[in-house]
Amino acid sequence: MNVIGMISGTSYDAIEAVAVDFDLRERVVHARLLDHVSVPYDAGLRSRVAIVLPPRQTTIDEVCRLDTEIGQAFAAVAAGLAATHFAGGADVVCSHGQTVFHWVHEGHALGTLQIGQAAWIAEATGATVVADVRARDVAAGGHGAPLASLVDVLVLGRAPEEVRGALNLGGISNVTVVGPEREPLAFDIGPANALMDAAVTWKTAGAELYDHDGAHARRGRIDEDLLAAFLAEPYYRAPAPKSTGKELFHLEYLQSHLAGRELSLDDLVATLTELTVRTVADAVLAQGVRELFVSGGGTRNPVVMAGLRRRLEESGVTLSLIDELGVPEAAKEAVLFALIGFLSVLGLEASIASCTGARHGCVLGAITPGRQPVLAVSSSEAPMSLVVTSALGAT
Ligand SMILES: Nc1ncnc2c1ncn2[C@@H]1O[C@H](COP(=O)(O)OP(=O)(O)OP(=O)(O)O)[C@@H](O)[C@H]1O
Ligand SMILES: [Mg+2]
Repeated sequence: MNVIGMISGTSYDAIEAVAVDFDLRERVVHARLLDHVSVPYDAGLRSRVAIVLPPRQTTIDEVCRLDTEIGQAFAAVAAGLAATHFAGGADVVCSHGQTVFHWVHEGHALGTLQIGQAAWIAEATGATVVADVRARDVAAGGHGAPLASLVDVLVLGRAPEEVRGALNLGGISNVTVVGPEREPLAFDIGPANALMDAAVTWKTAGAELYDHDGAHARRGRIDEDLLAAFLAEPYYRAPAPKSTGKELFHLEYLQSHLAGRELSLDDLVATLTELTVRTVADAVLAQGVRELFVSGGGTRNPVVMAGLRRRLEESGVTLSLIDELGVPEAAKEAVLFALIGFLSVLGLEASIASCTGARHGCVLGAITPGRQPVLAVSSSEAPMSLVVTSALGAT
């Protein structure tokens, strides 16, 4: 089956998209990864996403406009990939869209909103589109996250002899853990790049959007007092399963912790980089992980990676990119959504209840039909009339 998977993550930096040819044989999914593209949001759209995200307020008309424009941006990426790789068109496109709100209250996810209207994608590609992939898991009592646990558990193995983990360093860090005689577990750890990006963007007035190659962190000195204040965040001590997002870890959160301290950009970024390293290393060690496979934009920050190596390898944990397991790290999340699309149209569960905290695994997503019928039906001709046989009032 020819599938396109797409996401823009919590950093809303780019649409990550893959074209995959899937086959399911004897309970093994064979995925031939044909392409991965990373298409940056144009600057105007990116800044409009930035100004609707919490803690800012927005209007319903702006949500409608963004839903349309993000849908159109995703549609263009999908149409491009389909034209290049699938002569007959894609069968399925699964789009995560852009998370604009993830509603967590007292440790429970109550709702989650991803926008990027699927109809534009169906119209541009003719494919069956699977979207709104998190909502069903939330409705089943889960966090709707980390959905990456699906790919992680499949590539790590459900019950390996040693405890293994898969870590993603996006805007938020999340980890999936598998091991002998334990159910797979997954949770959001905390901010990976979210606070660093916020600091850099704020202090450079938007001239820089992230700490490219860790340049600021490398020059800065860690402020231990400030680090301790950040580490006091109760989220880090909450039990898994748990999820978080930019609803918590945003610029105002960062500023409230500064509490009058005057730090240079370099020192602030060095401190936030260490916060990422410490929270991730502590979470991984607390789970008894022996082998860790890493993905996401944070792997391209050498200061983050050196810090993680130092803390983990001294405890005997080996650290590799998830590429070692066959999944290119930058493409992992897009592959995840392609896989969810594939499983959803087959009617197969794509969430792992022990990882998201749901009551049961779910077939995920809302389906927008494309040119082909979603279900095989006996007639493919458009109807000409409607005959209603009423059972109302029948005794
Ligand atoms: N060369 C680099 N040096 C330092 N940081 C980098 C580099 N390249 C990427 N990053 C960081 O990675 C971030 C983007 O990572 P990624 O795309 O994995 O996250 P995301 O879009 O938030 O996805 P998600 O949160 O859903 O996993 C950037 O905002 C930046 O902070
Ligand atoms: Mg991204």
